[in-house]
Amino acid sequence: MVEDRRGILLSGADRRAAEQYEAALRAFQSYVGDPVATIDEALAESPAFVGGHLLKAFVLYTLAERQFAAMARDALAAAAPHAAGASDRERSLLAAGQRLVEGQWDAAALALDRVLAAHPRDALALQTAHLVDFYRGDALNLRNRVSRVLPHWTADLPGYSYVLGMHAFGLEEMNQYREAEDTGRRALAIEPRDGWSVHAVTHVMEMQGRIDEGVDWLVSREEDWAPDNGFAFHNFWHLALFHLDPGDVRAALDLYDRHVHPQPAAFTLSLVDATALLWRIALEDGDVGERWNGVAGDWSERLARGEPGFYAFNDLHAALAFVATRRADDLARVLAGLREAAAGAGSNAAMSRDVGLPLVQAIADFGDGRYGAAADGIEAVRDIAHRFGGSHAQRDLLTLTLIEAASRAGDADRARHYIAERLVHRQPGSAWGPRLARRVGTAAARRAA
Ligand SMILES: [Fe+2]
Repeated sequence: MVEDRRGILLSGADRRAAEQYEAALRAFQSYVGDPVATIDEALAESPAFVGGHLLKAFVLYTLAERQFAAMARDALAAAAPHAAGASDRERSLLAAGQRLVEGQWDAAALALDRVLAAHPRDALALQTAHLVDFYRGDALNLRNRVSRVLPHWTADLPGYSYVLGMHAFGLEEMNQYREAEDTGRRALAIEPRDGWSVHAVTHVMEMQGRIDEGVDWLVSREEDWAPDNGFAFHNFWHLALFHLDPGDVRAALDLYDRHVHPQPAAFTLSLVDATALLWRIALEDGDVGERWNGVAGDWSERLARGEPGFYAFNDLHAALAFVATRRADDLARVLAGLREAAAGAGSNAAMSRDVGLPLVQAIADFGDGRYGAAADGIEAVRDIAHRFGGSHAQRDLLTLTLIEAASRAGDADRARHYIAERLVHRQPGSAWGPRLARRVGTAAARRAA
């Protein structure tokens, strides 16, 4: 039996299939190249290659869309006839994959961790678990799951830099900014083209209000993280946020047009970012032209193919687009999907019930001008909103909306209360907090006049 380059047994693979597995795994870790197309080539020659089917299933599932979850289920089914000849590790991963496609994300994360306990150099299990942790908003395990395997990795192992990159992001989400930045920079010293490590350091700069440095960080190394990188849209989104910090809507929209949403979104991941960027600009009273219609149209297509109710974080962003474009029927369908999910089983049921549904109702209130209710609704779940995933930077949209809702409701004290948080955490480099404070002051003065 052949092994991967970290000593993991690969049943049903010959030497060539194992090399293709390495290439697909690297594409999964680096976002450069197409892991599914690469592993499909191996599977065409070696249909009994269980690890190949597993890799395909995990790549597809971690795109976090119902349509790809169905394809992941098919990939697991293709592996099933070969399970008898598979290793214990591969059978455990098949069971973890089964939990995923059943929507049991917490159980899947545990199952993946048991594999990592026995095989801490299983880069496939680690990469998958890291993304599952991201979608579950499990910051502790974004860091600690990587910590648990890190002692088993050394710099001479292929993919070591990606393990450091994951650790860097986990450290950042646990607010250990100095350690996160140091670790991210160590990863990039080994592999400068690692977009996830670039991203981890970018998050540190975002959270610390190091805005000018953040622009320079991304622009100066754009040739490393952008070309042919499937994750580039998100780092461009971060760059747009840095430009938006001092209120440069034009620069943010330029990045939106060229890199975040240059055409109808192929993946919901980038549509989420496009939506979130337009929403932030709209909160700033920026003119986004016709762009909302394109985004809402993309979300409508996802409605038509039954995506609502799969992942509450996505549903919130669909709702933002439909509120912005006053598509009441589409918004109602998102709400119906969320209610159905909330009444069901699995990880997304809890996410929808605890976070997604109350937030979408609050956003609907915001759209209808019920600003006090919107502020109340967001405030009630803001501090548990990590349960439906995303990063601190992504969920900052909730606080920005809460501040604007409170201001429009005439509750300047509450708006200033949340602005204070931002002023303390992101000064002196960030202009966003002071601008919000001036804006709330102006609105309050106008109201008093
Ligand atoms: Fe990010």
